[in-house]
Amino acid sequence: MYEVYGIIGDPVDHSLSPVMHNVAFREKNIKAVYGAFRVSSSDLAKAVEGIRALNIKGVSVTIPHKEKVMEYLEEIDEIAYEIGAVNTIVNENGVLKGYNTDWIGVLKAFKENGVEIQDKKVVIIGAGGASKAVVYALIKGGAEKIFVYNRTFEKAKFLEKKFGVIAKPWEELNSANGDIIIQTTSVGLKSWESPVEERVISRFKVAMDIVYLPLETKFLSLAKKHGKIIDGLQMLLYQGVEQFKLWTGIEPPVKLMEKAIYEKVKNLEKEILK
Ligand code: ATR
Repeated sequence: MYEVYGIIGDPVDHSLSPVMHNVAFREKNIKAVYGAFRVSSSDLAKAVEGIRALNIKGVSVTIPHKEKVMEYLEEIDEIAYEIGAVNTIVNENGVLKGYNTDWIGVLKAFKENGVEIQDKKVVIIGAGGASKAVVYALIKGGAEKIFVYNRTFEKAKFLEKKFGVIAKPWEELNSANGDIIIQTTSVGLKSWESPVEERVISRFKVAMDIVYLPLETKFLSLAKKHGKIIDGLQMLLYQGVEQFKLWTGIEPPVKLMEKAIYEKVKNLEKEILK
């Protein structure tokens, strides 16, 4: 009997999680299959009920359900609660528990790429759902100062109150300065735009983007002229690695998973961006 895993979100048709987890299941001889389930917001409660009814063993949660899904789970891990978002559900004998592995994905992406966060000044662009896990990771990683710039200032203020970061108005982005800059908005997704100009990016030694389609966004293409870049697949990979461990208790084949998602994204670029 095969066990079933999957991702719920909307949209999910270009999700890289199926290829990433299926290659790991296969390599580890685990009889399991991972699928993508498009679930609209109005169907979320029913979908979670379906996880129980169908005994689906583990689920990844993505946009736009990471926050709302918390209402429907029996248990929430302490850190996921603190971040205010769940990206992973574990079905423990019918009891659904929510976790957040996005923040570990961020920390690991830096660590595996040889970037130290401790005592660094970090600028985050964006204060949406993805930004929360990034902020949490930077706090855990010991960043000295975290500045959050967002188009809608109130959302940056919300993060200031919740996590003690420094909220900055969008209009001041041109004077941003620091060691590391992280792009968390949807600007540059399937388009050739950067939310910040090259002369600003050039002040930073390291730049990370959470957008991975295209893999080299305009933001990263400008940044690589001035310093080190970390693409959006790195965070995706390591949040997935942690999910796999939570579901199976087994160390996954990270390199294989990495290869699979980079190949897949290359195909998506050909398919979608041409
Ligand atoms: P996610 O979960 O991917 O972070 P989200 O919560 O909708 O998605 O957040 C999207 C982020 O991209 C927000 O910071 C948003 O800014 P607002 O809070 O002002 O909406 C940012 N964003 C989206 N389009 C943008 C644009 N054209 N210019 C600047 N910021 C933009």
